[in-house]
Amino acid sequence: MLSYQHGYHAGNLPDVHKHAALAVLLAALTAKDKPLSYLESHAGRGLYDLAAPEARKTGEARAGVDALLARKALPEEHPWTVAVQRVRATYGPTAYPGSPAIARALLRPGDRMHLMELHPQEHAALERGFRAPDVHIHRRDGHEGLPALVPPVPRRGLVLIDPSYEMKTEYAGAGDLLLSVHRKWPQAVILLWYPVLEAGLHGELVRTLEGAFLPKVWRDEAQLTGSALRMRGSGLFCVNTPYTAEPILRTTSAALFGARAGVT
Ligand SMILES: C[S@@+](CC[C@H](N)C(=O)[O-])C[C@H]1O[C@@H](n2cnc3c(N)ncnc32)[C@H](O)[C@@H]1O
Repeated sequence: MLSYQHGYHAGNLPDVHKHAALAVLLAALTAKDKPLSYLESHAGRGLYDLAAPEARKTGEARAGVDALLARKALPEEHPWTVAVQRVRATYGPTAYPGSPAIARALLRPGDRMHLMELHPQEHAALERGFRAPDVHIHRRDGHEGLPALVPPVPRRGLVLIDPSYEMKTEYAGAGDLLLSVHRKWPQAVILLWYPVLEAGLHGELVRTLEGAFLPKVWRDEAQLTGSALRMRGSGLFCVNTPYTAEPILRTTSAALFGARAGVT
C-alpha cells in the first residue's frame, strides 16, 4: 500500500524532531575529515513546498517548523537551522527540506548518498531534484534494498529508517530492518523514527530493539499532548550514537518539546 504522501505532513513537529536529530548526527559525523555514506530506506521526495495544496490542506507545519523558527527554538548555528536556511536560500522561504535535502545540505563533496523510494511520483521527484554523481537513487523496496546495499563504500556512515507505518506490520518490519542492517554493518549509525499511537503499536518494536542489546543506544520519545495530530508522540531510536552528538540530541529535544521530551 502506497497511499501515504509525506507532503501532507512535511514540517510538522514529529518531522522536525526527526530532522533535527538527523542534522545533529550528520554534523557529528562530518566533523571528522573522512568520507561517509548516507543511506535511506524510505526517502520521500526530498524537498517540500509548504505553500503547496497538500501542506496547506493539513496546515501541520504551522505548529512545527513555522512555530519553531518563529520562537527560535533552536539556535542559528544548530545544524537543522543551518540546513533549513541553506535550502531556503536556494528554493525560497516556503521550502522545507525532507531528510534527503537535510543530508545534501550538510554532506561534503566525496560523501555518498543512497536513497530508496518506492512510490512512483515521489521517486520521480527525487530523481529530478537530487540526481548527482555521488547520489544513488533507487526505486526499490527499502526493506530489501537497504540490507542489500550495506556495508557500503565508504564504510563510515549513517542510515535513516523512516517508514510511513501505514500498516500494523510495518512496526515489526522497521525493527527487523534495523537489526539486519546492524548485523551486516555493525559500525553504522542508524536512526529510526516511529510514531507513538493510542493503540500502542510501537511498544513491541521498542521492546524488540531494547532486548537486542545494541551499542550506544539513544532513545527519545516526545509527547504531543494537545497537538491536532493523530499521534500521541514521536519516537527516535539511534544505534551507535556518536558520543559528541548525544548531549546535543538531548538539548535539541528539550528545546523542541520542553519538559515533555525524554524516555524514563
Ligand atoms: C515518512 S515518508 C519519508 C519521509 C522522509 N524520510 C523525510 O523525512 O523527508 C515514507 C516514504 O516511504 C515510501 N515508502 C513506503 N513503503 C516503502 C518501501 N517498502 N520502500 C521504499 N519506500 C517506501 C513512501 O512512499 C513515503 O514516501
